[in-house]
Amino acid sequence: MSKAFLSVEGLTQKFPSPETGELTVFENINFKVEKGEFITIIGHSGCGKSTILNVLAGLDEATSGAVIMEGKEVSGPSLDRGVVFQNYSLLPWLSTLSNVTFAVESRHPDWSKEQVKDHAMKYLELVGLSGGVEQRKPSQLSGGMRQRVSIARAFATQPKLLLLDEPFGALDALTRGTIQDELLKIWAGTNQTVFMITHDVDEAIYLSDRILLMSNGPYATVAESVEIEIPRPRSRASIVEDPLYYEIRNHLVHFLTSRSKEIDGKAQSAIDKAHPNVVRLSEKKSERAAAQTDIEKKNLKAS
Ligand SMILES: Nc1ncnc2c1ncn2[C@@H]1O[C@H](COP(=O)(O)OP(=O)(O)OP(=O)(O)O)[C@@H](O)[C@H]1O
Ligand SMILES: [Mg+2]
Repeated sequence: MSKAFLSVEGLTQKFPSPETGELTVFENINFKVEKGEFITIIGHSGCGKSTILNVLAGLDEATSGAVIMEGKEVSGPSLDRGVVFQNYSLLPWLSTLSNVTFAVESRHPDWSKEQVKDHAMKYLELVGLSGGVEQRKPSQLSGGMRQRVSIARAFATQPKLLLLDEPFGALDALTRGTIQDELLKIWAGTNQTVFMITHDVDEAIYLSDRILLMSNGPYATVAESVEIEIPRPRSRASIVEDPLYYEIRNHLVHFLTSRSKEIDGKAQSAIDKAHPNVVRLSEKKSERAAAQTDIEKKNLKAS
């Protein structure tokens, strides 16, 4: 049995397809997540990120493979795993506040109504939804506001594993920055583990301990695990001064623009897939610097 907090083992997802009879979205996905890690996954639209997240949540079942959390196979949803869905998924008949208290009550059935409400309001205030907005129904909110309710709901239940599917996609840049920082504070102050999907490479670098890179489907796979060795606490202003930031950014952009298409998940051997490449760009950087010094030495000798 795996010792990691979360272990994804040989996950494969096939769906019936009207065109080809069967679509293998991804095949033999393997990765581990340690307790307290902040992991993001990036890859092109349709490669299967949301499908993986739903399997981690226990809301979907993969065609084969397993997800093990704290030594137990995930089968069905649990309050230990809180999800912010790509499409927000709020209960339309409940107010904003009730959408959050509903979740808090399930998590803490022994709490008083007052306690539940105060706790829910704390998280709604955190995402900037108070002063009467909390009484509105989801249909009376903007897309960005709905997304914030969904974030408040997931954070308020304080799950062991937070699963976030593009949680900041519908937010303006300012709100996005504020909520990213709140997320980092919550994460740093608890021992929560975060698994997040994003399309934004800067957001991924700023937030993550590790970024998983997924190749394009069909037969998509987790090709690499890129370690973000930039020390914490990070700030938006200082992170861009770190030369490693650009090394990582270029690596991610290069993956998304060319390598993600070139990696053929079907052709790749099972052994490769079982152990996605670990990439530490600080090492690559020193290798490059050493190679450069060698060239300079040779040039010096030749001259
Ligand atoms: N229930 C389903 N039945 C059939 N095909 C599905 C089903 N769910 C997802 N798919 C297909 O699986 C593939 C992956 O979908 P998924 O939503 O996981 O992608 P994604 O990586 O999250 O994309 P995006 O970045 O656009 O959100 C897509 O081709 C999609 O059409
Ligand atoms: Mg998705």
